Amino acid sequence: MTLATNSTLSRLLERFNQKFGRSESPEFAFFAPGRVNLIGDHTDFTGGLVFPCAITQGTWLIIRRTGNHQYRFASTNFDLMAQLEQHEINQTYGDNWINYPLGVLDQFTQRDVILDGFDCLYSGNVPNGAGLSSSASVEVVTAFAINSLMKTGFSLIDLVKMSQAAENEFVGMQCGIMDQFAVAMGKQAHAIQLDCDTLEYRQIPMNLDGISIVVTNTNQRRELNESAYNDRVEECARALALLEPVLGIRRLGQLLPEQLATHELLFANDPVALMRARHVCTENARVRAAVPALESSDVTHFGELMNQSHDSLRDQFEVSSEPLNHLVRLARSQPSVLGSRLTGAGFGGCTVSLVPSPDVAAFELAVGAGYTEATGLTANFYTMSAGDGVRQIPLNTSVRDNH
Ligand code: GLA
Repeated sequence: MTLATNSTLSRLLERFNQKFGRSESPEFAFFAPGRVNLIGDHTDFTGGLVFPCAITQGTWLIIRRTGNHQYRFASTNFDLMAQLEQHEINQTYGDNWINYPLGVLDQFTQRDVILDGFDCLYSGNVPNGAGLSSSASVEVVTAFAINSLMKTGFSLIDLVKMSQAAENEFVGMQCGIMDQFAVAMGKQAHAIQLDCDTLEYRQIPMNLDGISIVVTNTNQRRELNESAYNDRVEECARALALLEPVLGIRRLGQLLPEQLATHELLFANDPVALMRARHVCTENARVRAAVPALESSDVTHFGELMNQSHDSLRDQFEVSSEPLNHLVRLARSQPSVLGSRLTGAGFGGCTVSLVPSPDVAAFELAVGAGYTEATGLTANFYTMSAGDGVRQIPLNTSVRDNH
């Protein structure tokens, strides 16, 4: 464990004791990363292909089991602290971040696990609502921690599914499985090729050869995000309902672009569903091509596929926004940039760009200035590396003695 990790943990333990008081019951520490999706957006809920990687930023959780049937949640990122009694934990808590851990507790309860109280302090360094899965990191770190403290023996894949279900059922966002999967299964210096239908996956070394992954946050306030996302899920279901009887496909993610081309007439009364289906089948084809491109260090081709992905998300899936499109245009106008696209759900949030490492500083200056000039907003830039998935962090004696 690095000195930096030790000092983060000491600081968090101190905050934990300030918030909740000391107790005989021991504290434990866990960490789950965020993720950046390199390519393959809005395909997961159709059983399609995605290609994300976990990042090194994420959410820390300091937790202890109390046995007093009270549940206290606090975060270093928000002022609000909640204290709930046993009978209150199966209801949503306003429109608040606490619904993410509560949704996870609910999944354990649904599986007949008898919970008897926790104190939880969260601390995240993934920007919220930026499309880097801060919410999945909160869900997965909670599920992993409770599984460990309660010795419930669920597998990592069970915990991934429970975290996704928490978001679907409790928060009401009909998301796919990509975020929770990447956050749980990430591996340093690797991206994950995942088939969201079968959950077969491969960890692919990131052969980026002097190219940096630069994430740029629009800092645009996201509006309509959840309901517009759920609308897209429903529009894809409509597309499947038209195609299934003719093609016999079970999931829209199985559709091939050439099959869609020969059956476009089926969509005479639903042009919106046609656009959504076009995005899904071409995006899957792009992921299929992007993985071997990365494996053979063909970053030029990878970058072209990223550009096509953005254009399809903008024009066919209609989940981009003016600030996102502007950032992408500015990024692509830098001569050495290989590709740039929105990442995650869209409707604001972040772009991901491939930039030769020596040019990153100039990229940030030029894109940052152009963006502020055009939108009045300030963009933030992060150079990302692929990190490991969820894990327990040992609280050794030097950390405990230090706080
Ligand atoms: C959000 C969802 C994911 C996925 C992406 C878009 O991050 O949580 O399941 O659908 O949007 O690819």
